[in-house]
Amino acid sequence: MKFLDMSIMHDNIKLEIMKAIEKVYDSNWYVLGNEVSEFEKEFATYCGVKHCIGVGNGLEALHLILKGYDIGKGDEVIIPSNTYIATALAVNYVGATPIFVEPNERTYNINHNLIEDSITSKTKAIIAVHLYGQTCDMNPINEIAKMYNLKVIEDNAQSQGALYRGRKSGSLSDAAGISFYPGKNIGALGDAGAVTTNDDELANKIRSLRNYGSSIKYFNEYKGYNSRLDELQAAILRVKLKYLDEWNDYRNMIANIYLENIKNKDVIVPYTLENCKHVYHQFVIKTRYRDELQKYLKYNNIDTMIHYPVPIHKQKSYQELNYLKGKLPIAENISEQILSLPIYPYISKEEVYKLSNLINKFRSGINW
Ligand SMILES: Cc1ncc(COP(=O)(O)O)c(C=O)c1O
Repeated sequence: MKFLDMSIMHDNIKLEIMKAIEKVYDSNWYVLGNEVSEFEKEFATYCGVKHCIGVGNGLEALHLILKGYDIGKGDEVIIPSNTYIATALAVNYVGATPIFVEPNERTYNINHNLIEDSITSKTKAIIAVHLYGQTCDMNPINEIAKMYNLKVIEDNAQSQGALYRGRKSGSLSDAAGISFYPGKNIGALGDAGAVTTNDDELANKIRSLRNYGSSIKYFNEYKGYNSRLDELQAAILRVKLKYLDEWNDYRNMIANIYLENIKNKDVIVPYTLENCKHVYHQFVIKTRYRDELQKYLKYNNIDTMIHYPVPIHKQKSYQELNYLKGKLPIAENISEQILSLPIYPYISKEEVYKLSNLINKFRSGINW
């Protein structure tokens, strides 16, 4: 059983995608044209925000938001200790310092109760990462930010379509960075990203920053970047956006099979916040016997993954932080115990039942 197989999902929409690609091909217009502007309108409507700005990828989306808010050298940005490296890299790109806050042990997302202890006079923003398909508990985060006059930025690389108290991810803060990396809930056929926001000023600035710092050709108001969503990827994403809710519902149906059928005292299944819709970008279980379980599943021809095996503060690239082992024990503990099971649109239900049963036999005394 593969960890991720996009072939059925892609086969189902192949004709539509090919038509969309052909349309761009025939238009002879490949950068910042009609497909990008239409996708931006459609994705903004989908998220329930005023603006969507298509950019090169998710990392650049976060980078451009921080840049757009003039966050830079000497500033601190609070991020969760349990996230993908891109969240921290975006902060470093603008010259600011990432400050790690431990996650909630049930949701694996940033623990809002620990944020205030990390706020200093240098803090400018909080990046709330909606990990694995579930939004952070945004109301308390936004309240803290309001008290200390901080920006709140969502890292919405992994939760497109998720709901927090009826509102879509990407609409729950000052601005959100989205990744459309191919394996995401809505993915391009290559790198792609976007910023969603209700902030008119920020939207205008990011539109300019992504295009060399220019809103009028050959007139440059900022030292900008080249980070544009291209026409082909936008055309592909327009097709895929129509299916996002259906794909997320399929992921939920599969998650429910796992949730109802995995019954092993050594295995903890995912927890969803009340009044929220999880979109299960990953189905992450937790067990003290993680390495043993992964080996057992591999022996039974099932591929799994770990998101993520090494927390950022323990990465070689961040050794300058000099974090001693045990400084961020929750992130470290999570990285040693979590395991992501296969979940994607049109994965076979029978295989998921079988996998659940296999997990139930693990450490039960039944031979494998
Ligand atoms: C939480 C998180 N943030 C940011 C990113 C960066 O997105 P991209 O790969 O499109 O640059 C990713 C991508 O995997 C991610 O998972």
